Amino acid sequence: MPDSDEPGHDGYFAFRDRLLGPLRTTILSAEQLCQAGRLIYGDPRGLSLYGVCAPDMAAGGITLLGRTAIECSVDAYTASVADALAGLRTAEAPAGPQPTEPVIVDLFCGSGNFGHHLGVRFSHPVHAAELDPAVYRTARNNLDRVGSPVSLHLVDYRDLLGKLPARSTHDIYIVEPPWGPAFTAHGLDLTRTSPPVPDILRDIRRSRDGLPCHIVIKTNDHIARDSLHRTFTDATHLHTHTPAPSLPYGANMRFHLYRLGDG
Ligand SMILES: C[S@@+](CC[C@H](N)C(=O)[O-])C[C@H]1O[C@@H](n2cnc3c(N)ncnc32)[C@H](O)[C@@H]1O
Repeated sequence: MPDSDEPGHDGYFAFRDRLLGPLRTTILSAEQLCQAGRLIYGDPRGLSLYGVCAPDMAAGGITLLGRTAIECSVDAYTASVADALAGLRTAEAPAGPQPTEPVIVDLFCGSGNFGHHLGVRFSHPVHAAELDPAVYRTARNNLDRVGSPVSLHLVDYRDLLGKLPARSTHDIYIVEPPWGPAFTAHGLDLTRTSPPVPDILRDIRRSRDGLPCHIVIKTNDHIARDSLHRTFTDATHLHTHTPAPSLPYGANMRFHLYRLGDG
């Protein structure tokens, strides 16, 4: 894990360790949710999912496990990525009748907030896979509470891929596997996530029989061993969203859009 030389961030790294350790599958209290928002985003309201920020979550019946508070992609980020995807879709749209409604798949659901925002933006149902029963239960509760278009399945992402054949060249796959040992002081190595991102891309390709699609992937701001570029070597990079950093180098989020399977 990256070290911080800014004393102000010590609290973040200590709390992060607790959220991914002893509080991993514990439902956080209202105070812990606000603390996570303050330490990660500099403001309790920065931890916001499904349009509900940390100070309002308890009243809205939104529950989050420790691990998900760290692993989730918050509203400000997912809304920006949804904007970028909408812009791409408009630019790529053929003249005349619109193509078949695309399939949108959140392969590693966690909170489900990514799929939720894409589903709302595009007014499409979204399919999501989540393997951890405790994460599944909280996500299920939250998505039901907000009336989300996400249809959540307690399955391995490969089982979901097997049930969702390619529908259009505008299909979107959100790829956010747990980082685990891939996240080190030397950066994030995408070939060591659980499962490795190259394996996930191979599984997506297989499920699509060669039809191109869009991939959304989250990284941090310190990639190890050029692993992002090497993993997407035969894909086309379309866009990277870089939120303003709130944490030390190596701990901030980035979101990348790729086109997979053209040419
Ligand atoms: C980094 S989190 C995803 C965060 C999510 N994008 C969000 O905004 O909350 C990864 C999630 O994938 C789940 N997961 C891990 N392996 C999986 C698998 N093989 N199939 C489906 N889900 C898996 C984990 O339980 C975890 O909740």
